[in-house]
Amino acid sequence: MPDDNVIRAENLSVQYKTRAGWVSAVDDVSLEIRRGEILGLVGESGCGKSTLGKALMRLIRHPARITNGHIWFQGIDLMTLSDNEMRQFRGRNIGMIFQDPMTSLNPIQRVVEHLIETIRTHEPAVSDEDAHARAADLVDRLGISANRLDDYPHQLSGGMRQRVMISLALALNADLIIADEATTSLDVIVEAQFVELLQQLCRDLDLAILMITHNIGLVAEVADRVAVMYAGRMAEMGSACDVFKEPLHPYTQGLLKAVPNIHLEEDELYKMEGSPPDLVSPPPACRFHPRCPHMMPVCSKVQPDFETARGDHRTACWLYQDVPAEYQDVREGSKA
Ligand SMILES: Nc1ncnc2c1ncn2[C@@H]1O[C@H](COP(=O)(O)OP(=O)(O)OP(=O)(O)O)[C@@H](O)[C@H]1O
Ligand SMILES: [Mg+2]
Repeated sequence: MPDDNVIRAENLSVQYKTRAGWVSAVDDVSLEIRRGEILGLVGESGCGKSTLGKALMRLIRHPARITNGHIWFQGIDLMTLSDNEMRQFRGRNIGMIFQDPMTSLNPIQRVVEHLIETIRTHEPAVSDEDAHARAADLVDRLGISANRLDDYPHQLSGGMRQRVMISLALALNADLIIADEATTSLDVIVEAQFVELLQQLCRDLDLAILMITHNIGLVAEVADRVAVMYAGRMAEMGSACDVFKEPLHPYTQGLLKAVPNIHLEEDELYKMEGSPPDLVSPPPACRFHPRCPHMMPVCSKVQPDFETARGDHRTACWLYQDVPAEYQDVREGSKA
């Protein structure tokens, strides 16, 4: 795959088995994350962001399953790897940072032990001494003094713990870092430092970073490109500049209008009507149509493709696609 993509998902679908039946938490989603870029993934709670992040690493466990799609990682289709091969591949190539690093760090292991274990699992020939020196160098690069290496995770601040998570990813020379709500538990100052660090590493080491977050302001500040999910599907994707300046999908337009803005009076704050659908029985065709101010008859009948509307800017919305002939005559009259 001679391109800049570190990872590319094609038509990925994930289903959860619930008492009410199978739920499509991710439905036919395609996306790519390029070398040296931060892709921000946003959308309302429950729209499938974390499920998509886990699916990219094939971390979907029973009773959920990936039902369709390919995940290309530098030329390898991860869907063809056995569980064992996938475990090794993930450990070598993908770093993960979650909201609460305490759930990923072992509370009874010192920071240095985490790092040495990670380094030596993947490079067994490295001596203890060399692994220790590399660990000290790694945390130093991330602004943690080497004398904190002997601390246990609970002795570190939240921001430091997140940096330890990055250092573990860097210890592997990971090409992709998936950060799922990684800054949610940090205060705004530490969040700003952490995000600046991610940006710098992304540039310096040519990493690909998927930043999953509710925080649209943060995405506007740091992401190179933005992906917007709605009810398990991709609604829009494009450069941060395009998506924030000229959002195409009515859902993205609503989402951006709903972000508090210091220049607006409080009573001007926009509230999107309705709520996201229950994924057990989502609305047919475009899942956003019951909430959409531009709803047309075709929207409840046929799912629009996720197509390029302008250059690299893609959206799944009939406003930008040729409506099938049988719905065309009613299009003009019903347009908002
Ligand atoms: N283990 C599970 N079993 C059944 N359904 C699940 C499970 N985990 C997630 N889901 C469902 O899958 C959908 C997507 O959930 P997911 O956690 O990916 O959303 P999210 O966008 O990350 O939400 P949030 O912003 O709240 O983190 C939701 O409808 C959720 O209820
Ligand atoms: Mg989530």
